[in-house]
Amino acid sequence: MWDTLKHRAADLGERRIEDLFAQGNRAQDFSLDALGMRFDFSKTQIDSDILADLIAVAKASGVEARRTAMFDGAKINETEGRAVLHTALRNLDGRPVMVDGADVTPAVLATLDRMETLANEIRAGDIDHVVNIGIGGSDLGPVMAVLSLAPYHDGPETVFVSNVDGADIHDTLKRCDPARTLFIVASKTFTTIETMTNARSALAWLESAGVSKEGRFVALSSNKEKAAEFGIPAERVLGFEDWVGGRYSVWGPIGLSVMIAVGPANFRAFLQGGMEMDRHFQTAPLAENMPVLLAMVGMWHAQVLGHATRAVLPYDNRLMRLPAYLQQLEMESNGKGVSMDGADLAVGSGPIVWGEPGTNGQHAFYQLIHQGTRVVPCEFLLAARGHEPDLAHHHALLVANCLAQSEALMRGRTLDEARAKVAGKFEGAELERQARHRVFPGNRPSTTLIYPQLTPQVLGQIVALYEHRVFVEGVILGINSYDQWGVELGKELATALGPLVTGEAPTESKDGSTKALVDYVLKHG
Ligand code: F6P
Repeated sequence: MWDTLKHRAADLGERRIEDLFAQGNRAQDFSLDALGMRFDFSKTQIDSDILADLIAVAKASGVEARRTAMFDGAKINETEGRAVLHTALRNLDGRPVMVDGADVTPAVLATLDRMETLANEIRAGDIDHVVNIGIGGSDLGPVMAVLSLAPYHDGPETVFVSNVDGADIHDTLKRCDPARTLFIVASKTFTTIETMTNARSALAWLESAGVSKEGRFVALSSNKEKAAEFGIPAERVLGFEDWVGGRYSVWGPIGLSVMIAVGPANFRAFLQGGMEMDRHFQTAPLAENMPVLLAMVGMWHAQVLGHATRAVLPYDNRLMRLPAYLQQLEMESNGKGVSMDGADLAVGSGPIVWGEPGTNGQHAFYQLIHQGTRVVPCEFLLAARGHEPDLAHHHALLVANCLAQSEALMRGRTLDEARAKVAGKFEGAELERQARHRVFPGNRPSTTLIYPQLTPQVLGQIVALYEHRVFVEGVILGINSYDQWGVELGKELATALGPLVTGEAPTESKDGSTKALVDYVLKHG
């Protein structure tokens, strides 16, 4: 399936991206408008033959049938025997979604109403700080969304504790008044060691301040029994089903901190945006389908051209945690080496995802992106409009910088141009040497997702876009994007190491390195 594309890649030779703009209306033909956003992939090596082949790969891989199966509640998470229905959490239009013969939508909407009642109560009460205790998907989604929607934040201050490092909860609670703090314990399983350790420390913090825990804890979990064991009464527990994966859970109860921060109406607008992207994904033909195109451009770079990483570069400071959020979404979903049937993958798994907001990254790691020997496909995100009309000149600079980067990556700077830059300052061999340092190879691919403004609705569209991109890539790779067995081994070994690092058990069974590191901790700890 990949052979034709690999041949096309081999045939690219010295072809320059900017030369492709001479043919037809490339900016138009290699971009897609949907829901008011534009996904521009014209600054890549993709031409109409390559695009047709990429779409053919999506078609031949059964993306459409699998998409229907997902939305219809089939158990496409085959290793865990579960449906994959985070989309049902944003099913605001109430359309039925059947799991094991029962419509789950009424319960989803009822839980949304319960979230709303609780959020309104907390927003109207005497709480100054809401502390969300969770990790992975029970942290990254909410923190990313709360930061993204800062202009809409009119609820209590919302802070996040995730790391088992005591520094995290210590430094966070330093800022909080025990009498005016509410804890949200967000954990799908309610067994995650980091979250449960932090939740118990939060409880101890309240007790040591003489504050009753009554009404101070809310649990968000699929494991209602464990939440009850922790002492959180049923009316303060918001549940969700096992068909919502942790990294896909911000749309439901795990999003409570977001709803408290920005209010139920804005949270619903976020869901609305997600649902709009769902409907686009479900109905648009593959070649006009934004998640499909985003996925196929990604696969062209990762699986065909072999670029190991992709950078996510939001020129939208409030999306500062989007790269971290996407790291989990993409790498936990598609970082797998075996296909659904257990066979080794024929091509590379999903790429390493990383990034930082622009313009900050420009002054840090863009050097490598422009002149390093590895090609890093870049994904820029940009709002046409900011939220600060009185600072419009900042936004103009932001936009100019974003567009300048994709242009620079594409065009580069030739040796002749570099010589012209330094002519007059140097001459002879020194001019030549100095010029070579100023050459940019260019021809480096990037895409730009541009949207009107980062509103709750647009954020919902963007997050759902990336979720479906991960789905499409996973289907084409033939893997299960919805399990995460790769996190298990480290957890098991950490549990076993617990008594060793406190000196309660001997280290003999361990390898030399681990033993020596434990010895160091015991000596210096
Ligand atoms: O260990 C990985 C993981 O299971 C993630 O998939 C998940 O988002 C995170 O841990 C937190 O899990 P939980 O919400 O059950 O505490």
